[in-house]
Amino acid sequence: MWHKSAISIQARVSSRPLPVSGPPVGDPENIRFFVPMKITAFAASNSSRSINKQFVEHTLTHFPEAEINLLDLNNYDMPLFSVDRESNDGYPQQARDFLKQFEDTDLVIVSMAEHNGNCTAAFKNLLDWSSRIELKVFNDKPLFLTSTSPGKGGAKLSLAYAETRFPRHSAQLLGTFSLPSFNENFSPEAGILDEALKAEYLEKIAAVKGKVTF
Ligand SMILES: Cc1cc2nc3c(=O)[nH]c(=O)nc-3n(C[C@H](O)[C@H](O)[C@H](O)COP(=O)(O)O)c2cc1C
Repeated sequence: MWHKSAISIQARVSSRPLPVSGPPVGDPENIRFFVPMKITAFAASNSSRSINKQFVEHTLTHFPEAEINLLDLNNYDMPLFSVDRESNDGYPQQARDFLKQFEDTDLVIVSMAEHNGNCTAAFKNLLDWSSRIELKVFNDKPLFLTSTSPGKGGAKLSLAYAETRFPRHSAQLLGTFSLPSFNENFSPEAGILDEALKAEYLEKIAAVKGKVTF
């Protein structure tokens, strides 16, 4: 279980500029300031109509007090990884920029799209380039993984890939959730429509919140 200790929270508080809003709490001898949880999130898809982006945006609504950094994979578009490009041209700036997103965050949320039983080529290319610069892509941050697809499988194969692979890139996996049949089971206004799936999802969100303490 991932747990942020009081000591590291204190360090975070003192290392940041004081917020302009948010009252100090506690006695004057030991003043603490409210520092919002930082979440870095993305859908592992480069589709402008990505259902996983819709789903990740919905998941973020369950963290209303967090400071959100929602990434778009299209901002990290790079040539297809090859060892020849790597040795001839070095690393694209986009891969370095992607790695930076995990430097100062408290939680990572990723929703996996599935293409032919695996993650999308767009995401795999980004992972390939990034992992050559730094194997610990996720920088030891806690991770909540979701997936969805229009089919009954709910992109579970892509989710399973990420579940196995991301810890090797130093993600601290807190939980997973797969939403099948997105078009039937999800509405932007109401969220997850199926009661059993909604209950499972909310339970997992609560578990994630319980593990990332501030
Ligand atoms: C090339 C391709 C392969 C696909 N393969 C699968 C698949 O293996 N399993 C699946 O559930 N859906 C598959 N789909 C459908 C995707 O789940 C669907 O396009 C979904 O919207 C992708 O997620 P996104 O909208 O977040 O990009 C495939 C779609 C494409 C374009």
